[in-house]
Amino acid sequence: MTSNMRSIYEDVNYYFKSLGLFLSRAKTCINDLGNRQWLELLTDLSFDADKEIRLLTIGTGKGDRDCLLIQHLSKRYNKLHVTVVEPAKRQLDEFKNKAAKITEDFPGVSFEWHVKMFEDYQNDHKKPDGTFHIVFAGHSLIYMKNWESALDGMYNHVQPGGMLAVTVVHGQGFQGRLRKMYRDLEGCSLHLQTSDDVKRHLKTKNIEHLNEKELSREVDFDISDVFDESSDDGNVLLDFLVLRSQFRKTAPPDHQAKVLKFLRDNSVKENGRHWLHSGEEHVAARRL
Ligand SMILES: C[S@@+](CC[C@H](N)C(=O)[O-])C[C@H]1O[C@@H](n2cnc3c(N)ncnc32)[C@H](O)[C@@H]1O
Repeated sequence: MTSNMRSIYEDVNYYFKSLGLFLSRAKTCINDLGNRQWLELLTDLSFDADKEIRLLTIGTGKGDRDCLLIQHLSKRYNKLHVTVVEPAKRQLDEFKNKAAKITEDFPGVSFEWHVKMFEDYQNDHKKPDGTFHIVFAGHSLIYMKNWESALDGMYNHVQPGGMLAVTVVHGQGFQGRLRKMYRDLEGCSLHLQTSDDVKRHLKTKNIEHLNEKELSREVDFDISDVFDESSDDGNVLLDFLVLRSQFRKTAPPDHQAKVLKFLRDNSVKENGRHWLHSGEEHVAARRL
């Protein structure tokens, strides 16, 4: 990364503003698709229904995805303990409101909150063997500076027979290809990982990821504003796509031109709007 470029995550409020704006441009609700995929992922898991099921969920934001998973699990198991690790307090407070509603409907569900980075949680909870039935990280792995070591740590928290599921941008999709192109251009891969990188890392550790299931989904996002230099929203969206702050002000002109050309060439034009066809994937692995 050139010295004047900054990670979008350095200013957490700005990061959440850009994430919210990007999600608001989706054509369809991504949660509906994720919901169906949780059902598919959970079908093969059968834990002892008399025992408490333990879920560790990392980088939850406001917890929308996590609540879907928790609801699926609480319909199958009487007792569920959810350990939540998320450094952004404001987002966690929103999650807590949703959790209160869940515990009203499902009294067997309990929560434990850790307002911290996963790396810090790791340091505080060094255990030789995994104790969680499911460990889930929805689009948070890539914000960890040493994501490979964080991924190893997540896997180690899974108990034998349990499952690790990490949601990441699909490596073969449009956003995944943009990330690969941009990290080559910038010479820095900070926050620019895709499902391909995660699968490759698991392979180096001889961990088989589940690939027999359809665990990816695609949604179209309206990115038309990024082509309008004077649009504040467009500039925020552009920052979100390359995961850098103030991209239009700080990136070298040739990098800007290449990113915009990539976006123009690869988005689909429909009724005068540019749609980015973006995919995400659950990379999931069972612990043997
Ligand atoms: C893209 S959001 C994902 C939110 C939610 N899981 C989802 O899928 O919509 C990334 C989340 O990871 C959190 N995060 C960033 N760095 C983290 C770290 N080192 N440990 C745990 N969470 C982290 C952020 O605060 C943010 O809530």
